[in-house]
Amino acid sequence: MKVVTSDEIDSGLIDYAGHMQRAIELAGQVLTTTPNPRVGCVLVDADNRVIGEGWHQTAGQAHAEAMALASCSEQALQDSPIAFVSLEPCSHHGRTPPCSDALIAAGIKTVVIAGMDPNPQVSGQGVAKLEAAGISVFHLKNFENQAELLNRGYLQRRRLGIPFVRCKLAMSLDGRTAMASGESKWITGAAARSDVQTLRASSCAIVTGVDTILADDPSLTVRLESLAVARQPMRVVLDSKLRTPSTARLLQSPGEVKIFTAIATEEGAKDKGKNHPHNVEIISAPAQAPDQQVDLKNVLESLAGNYACNEVLVESGSTLAGAFIQSGLVDELIVYVSGKLLGSDARPLLNLPGLASMSDQIALQITDVAMFDNDIRITATIVK
Ligand SMILES: NC(=O)c1ccc[n+]([C@@H]2O[C@H](COP(=O)([O-])OP(=O)(O)OC[C@H]3O[C@@H](n4cnc5c(N)ncnc54)[C@H](OP(=O)(O)O)[C@@H]3O)[C@@H](O)[C@H]2O)c1
Repeated sequence: MKVVTSDEIDSGLIDYAGHMQRAIELAGQVLTTTPNPRVGCVLVDADNRVIGEGWHQTAGQAHAEAMALASCSEQALQDSPIAFVSLEPCSHHGRTPPCSDALIAAGIKTVVIAGMDPNPQVSGQGVAKLEAAGISVFHLKNFENQAELLNRGYLQRRRLGIPFVRCKLAMSLDGRTAMASGESKWITGAAARSDVQTLRASSCAIVTGVDTILADDPSLTVRLESLAVARQPMRVVLDSKLRTPSTARLLQSPGEVKIFTAIATEEGAKDKGKNHPHNVEIISAPAQAPDQQVDLKNVLESLAGNYACNEVLVESGSTLAGAFIQSGLVDELIVYVSGKLLGSDARPLLNLPGLASMSDQIALQITDVAMFDNDIRITATIVK
């Protein structure tokens, strides 16, 4: 495989950058293909004509390469076709046959990719299979960042064994997330809250703390019909002592619910949750010092390892959100800032105790700012 930029490979005939950009756009049309990566594919003939396009739509359905091959005629495939794929083609039998085999069988002569797949079942083997069949493979290094952004969750789960974690909070302009009484509805307007629905729909799991359940009784489901979600994300409550009542709306609404508790034995935990509905699973997790609360890293490892969660959205109050940030487990912070003032008695954005001097500060890189009526959405990554 040759690692090159699109400029280095450009012969003046084939638009390498344009076709790869299109493959990435195709992949990005869907919010999630969990547990699979989002992938797009463009097939081009020797005269630079697009002869087929495809993208992975949902797990269990055709992969991008298979959809692109199915969209073009055998005649079109006669002319030394090139496949642009946003991720290394797979080499193993999963729910669908290997894409590298399909590309070889279709007579593709060149495959251009934007990123490698760290899945141990692929991880270079897709490229090796193509090359063993005499296909030239190019890795466009100037598209690596875009390919990475497309599948941040999938890639992180495969590389580190934990999901990509977004933490979302809504605050007033004076940095408050709830009144002292716990009342917090509504800080932001309808447009910002509808944007949160998209965040939920692209997540594999929504994680919250038991005190948000007790204060707000949220269902944390995706409710926007326009998103037409095929599945509800899993809802996860971190509840060390199992204080979640069986009547909680989140337990009573359809979809999978996991409650992670620090109550030591499975039997003890099951007994305490015996009145919960059947869609609710109670999981005993290790406790972390100093408060013997659920160990956050362990929860993330379990979500990735046992439930193949790629992207997780933390939607809690300041206590759990602060704990996630102080544990260094948040990758992206999304804060909706409303044009309201809630006053100095109201609750802060994050509980981050122990920061005493400027050198203790947690640095953020602001990556995006957007307006939703009278609210601002700020997206930032935590500088690690
Ligand atoms: N503005 C917003 O975006 C927003 C979003 C959500 C909620 N809220 C508001 O926030 C308030 C609730 O916030 P909150 O801070 O009290 O509660 P929270 O952050 O939702 O939940 C905190 C609880 O999570 C549990 N937990 C389990 N493992 C933990 C760990 N390792 N570290 C820390 N906590 C852990 C703890 O209870 P155990 O020790 O019993 O496990 C802890 O008390 C409500 O008023 C709600 O309306 C605002």
